[in-house]
Amino acid sequence: MEKFELHTPSFRGEIVIGEGAAAERLPALVKGQKNFVLTDSRVYALYPGFFAEYFGKDSLFVLPEGEKSKTFENLGKILRAMTEAGLHRTSRLFAVGGGVIGDIGGLAAALYMRGISCVQVPTTLLAQVDSGVGGKTAVDLAGVKNVVGAFFQPCEVVVDPMFLRTLSPREIKCGLGEMVKYAALDREIFRTLKENRDRLTDLSFLSSLILPCVQHKAKVVAADERETGERKSLNVGHTTGHAVELASGLSHGECVLWGMLLETQLAGKYGVTDSAYAAELCSLVRDALRAQPVSRLNFSALGGFAEKARSDKKNEEDGNICMAVAKSEGKWTLFSLPFAQYRAGMEAIIAKIGEQFPL
Ligand SMILES: NC(=O)c1ccc[n+]([C@@H]2O[C@H](COP(=O)([O-])OP(=O)(O)OC[C@H]3O[C@@H](n4cnc5c(N)ncnc54)[C@H](O)[C@@H]3O)[C@@H](O)[C@H]2O)c1
Ligand SMILES: [Zn+2]
Repeated sequence: MEKFELHTPSFRGEIVIGEGAAAERLPALVKGQKNFVLTDSRVYALYPGFFAEYFGKDSLFVLPEGEKSKTFENLGKILRAMTEAGLHRTSRLFAVGGGVIGDIGGLAAALYMRGISCVQVPTTLLAQVDSGVGGKTAVDLAGVKNVVGAFFQPCEVVVDPMFLRTLSPREIKCGLGEMVKYAALDREIFRTLKENRDRLTDLSFLSSLILPCVQHKAKVVAADERETGERKSLNVGHTTGHAVELASGLSHGECVLWGMLLETQLAGKYGVTDSAYAAELCSLVRDALRAQPVSRLNFSALGGFAEKARSDKKNEEDGNICMAVAKSEGKWTLFSLPFAQYRAGMEAIIAKIGEQFPL
């Protein structure tokens, strides 16, 4: 079990990682105050014994599973249920689930009485390596993802890989996408993944990388909680990844892999990414894309996905497309291109990939 603190200018939270973390930390965390537990229908159905054991008499709110539940309407319902449960300023919310539950639960905790204590118990690989840590909370509104939200740090994040055994291969693959993102930013993670290319679907191997991924994220968030500088690095592959996500049916993490492949090649062409390193990184990304279930994209059916990159939140007002890209091992930079050049560059890269399809 590993335990460390995440310090931001305004907050100090604990992160506990390891098999058995839930059994070790939850009995103490539920004691001494009124609790409110938020989860989704799938997690609740899979782990009835877990909820009975740790949250027996606490108020429980179960959302239908999936992104469609991350709405302003559901946020209102949760806040209403918290009020009806008679929660106080000293009460605590537990968000037990994937990124959807963590995001909406964290926002409810931020808003209720201007902020109550929140414990994140992430249950997907994506949430354990990424969304459960860092204090970004949000809901979707009017078709726009994460448009209403707040920065709100949980008092503790309990990361227990025990939950991962019930994930589908596609959800594991989704988490792998974010892990490869860390590889583009962190030398050690890059080397470990490269040396274990044949284990990219092996859950025990992936679980062993949760700690370094979370430590990397915690270090970045501690330096730049509000994403004015260093935290932008965590968007590697995400500008193009989001565009692909809007146009395809693949999971978020798989789209981040595609985004990394395309953006690294583009940045390589412009001399922004060192060419030998770009080749090495792309080779790892390709291995991850090929890992089961294979993340196939049919570009000709995607239509003008590059257009979708125009609406990305990370772009500035000058109309350029802004990307965070790896520069060399462990180094990154921001890379902007006027839209016409971005689109032309993407079209040329995709035409080449088309010849090698499926990778
Ligand atoms: N706050 C952040 O920094 C941040 C970062 C990345 C992503 N996100 C958000 O996270 C969300 C995506 O997260 P996600 O991929 O975890 O989605 P999710 O919460 O929808 O979970 C994916 C699916 O896995 C199921 N599930 C959860 N735990 C399970 C388990 N242990 N066993 C079996 N099934 C389980 C869920 O019921 C759901 O069907 C998006 O809304 C995204 O915007 C937030
Ligand atoms: Zn992501």
